[in-house]
Amino acid sequence: MAEPVQTPQASFPTRIFSGIQPSGGLTLGNYLGALKRFVEKQDEGIETIYCMVDMHAITVWQDPEKLRQQTREGAAAFIAAGIDPARSILFNQSQVSAHVELGWIFNCIARMGWMSRMTQFKDKAGKNSENVSLGLFAYPSLMAADILAYKATHVPVGEDQKQHLELTRDIAIKFNNDYGVNFFPVVEPVIEGAATRVMSLRDGTKKMSKSDPSDQSRINLTDDADTIAKKIRKAKTDPEPLPDTLDGLKDRPEARNLVNIYAALAGHTPEQVIRDYAGAQFGSFKPALADLAVAKLEPITLEMNRLMQDPGEIDHILGQGAARADAIARPIVDQVYDIIGMIRSRRD
Ligand code: AMP
Ligand code: TRP
Repeated sequence: MAEPVQTPQASFPTRIFSGIQPSGGLTLGNYLGALKRFVEKQDEGIETIYCMVDMHAITVWQDPEKLRQQTREGAAAFIAAGIDPARSILFNQSQVSAHVELGWIFNCIARMGWMSRMTQFKDKAGKNSENVSLGLFAYPSLMAADILAYKATHVPVGEDQKQHLELTRDIAIKFNNDYGVNFFPVVEPVIEGAATRVMSLRDGTKKMSKSDPSDQSRINLTDDADTIAKKIRKAKTDPEPLPDTLDGLKDRPEARNLVNIYAALAGHTPEQVIRDYAGAQFGSFKPALADLAVAKLEPITLEMNRLMQDPGEIDHILGQGAARADAIARPIVDQVYDIIGMIRSRRD
């Protein structure tokens, strides 16, 4: 976003918010679809607020000790990938109560029909929808609150979050209409780059996910160089060589995925990768991809491991980030209380 960004309502200054759930270890999908792009936004000099969304994680039961560990590990991944806690605000959601307060208010704005259309809920709940938590159903309205508690205008995410951001827009518009105000911005999803949807290494039609039962399906940010190389060598492909145009990858989801991953890691377009590797067999493309992945990911993994040696320091960074986040969100949520008619007379 080198160019001034088009905000739908010019009165809202550009501010970026995004979040990642500490519900497991982070994957290459999180790195390419989210983290790497969060760093780019920070380095463009935009105000950036990034959050480990622990309140979202507990929509599915989490072991408390693991949740703490995963939250710290996620924060370490942010920093290792290039987030500078002095330039960006980095914190965990539960330390800033504005999120859940606004989340409740948005539960009263969002309509049952809107929520019932969320495909991620349908996928996650599956046949078990009577038995999942109410929080899992309501979670996209908490996500809207995460963003709008800061009046953020732009939200970098992977492709899978697009529908949740449309809901965020609907909630902002309905709130503004219901109360006759121009209070919340209508956010812009920022879904950019070659890897907005990194697919499983075992099945090119399924998203790479930290919750996939097969560890072979994903690259974890904690995998060592050998493991990364092995997983890429074993990734499912087809017997054909790489074609000379992107069109030739149309019905080859696994091959397309590896080309996209290469492009995103190298900072090239998929077209460039195809130009460089036209006619190459996977026997030569996979080792090149493995080398590139190790070169890009190994320094991050090593830095994460180093940071994890000092959990106290990570907690300190999250605490400081939370105080800065609260300073922005508190007055916004207080104004919301005034707008909706809550008496605020407590003094202590
Ligand atoms: P989550 O792990 O579900 O909290 O996702 C955190 C961020 O990573 C969101 O912006 C997601 O869209 C993004 N993300 C997760 N998995 C992938 C994937 N396989 N490809 C691209 N982006 C992803
Ligand atoms: N729902 C997102 C995911 O599962 C995580 C998330 C929560 C988020 N709150 C957010 C992303 C606010 C962007 C902005 O990936």
